[in-house]
Amino acid sequence: MIDPERVAAAARDLGPRDAQFLARAYAGGTDRYLSRLSAVGFMGLDNVLDAGCGFGQWSLALARLCGRVTAVDDDPARVGVALALAAGTPNLSVRHGSIEALPFPDATFDGVFCYSVIYYTDVRRALRELSRVLKPRGALYVCSNGLGWYVYNIIAGPNRTQNFDPRTYGLNALWTSARYRALGIPPRHGASVVTSRRWLSHLIRSNGLEVLGVGPEGSIHVNGTGAPQPFFRDRYWGLEGVSEWLARKPSAA
Ligand SMILES: C[S@@+](CC[C@H](N)C(=O)[O-])C[C@H]1O[C@@H](n2cnc3c(N)ncnc32)[C@H](O)[C@@H]1O
Repeated sequence: MIDPERVAAAARDLGPRDAQFLARAYAGGTDRYLSRLSAVGFMGLDNVLDAGCGFGQWSLALARLCGRVTAVDDDPARVGVALALAAGTPNLSVRHGSIEALPFPDATFDGVFCYSVIYYTDVRRALRELSRVLKPRGALYVCSNGLGWYVYNIIAGPNRTQNFDPRTYGLNALWTSARYRALGIPPRHGASVVTSRRWLSHLIRSNGLEVLGVGPEGSIHVNGTGAPQPFFRDRYWGLEGVSEWLARKPSAA
């Protein structure tokens, strides 16, 4: 478990939205991340990428379960915090970069973990990159938001801070998605694309990966571990909430 004083010190220069997010990410300790990663089979892998690591809570948990972990995020402030909290974890390296253009050769990683990031990106491009850097037989985990999550933001307005208005965020996601799906215009920084289970499954398959599982966030469990605790709801007013995917790259021909 990361010392809460180190987390508080790392939050010093963050704005209200990021400071709250950082506090939430580390508040419940590491066990809930370890059990989720074990449930989706991200343990005992030699070389893993945490794609869009944010403040690094999943990266630190991955470093406990896997041989080597590289964490990448395109937000310099988050990279700074993740770097500070990774000090003393020698098998974790944190670097700045975009998951739409990863600075790694083809077939580098045994596993790519991408939690709550893909919807901020040019989804097609990012999925191509995540698939490219996976080794044959490598595993891809993705967690992303459906329409219900944005409707929940618009109606219920969760996690509001001085510099974050969930209603504007949710409405903006609907507009951004329409532009991306109809015209191919990718989201600008901080805007989101709605990702339905059906569409993202199709995109993962179109990159040559086999979808091993798709369902509500927290529902996938391999290794007979039993379903772990989810962080989000499956549905909001009957609409898809937060979902997860586990996929595998086939063996080389
Ligand atoms: C909701 S946070 C999730 C972070 C972390 N995976 C977690 O579960 O806490 C989304 C993260 O995606 C990062 N991000 C957005 N677009 C990105 C891109 N193109 N490449 C890398 N990171 C990106 C943001 O900077 C942010 O840290």
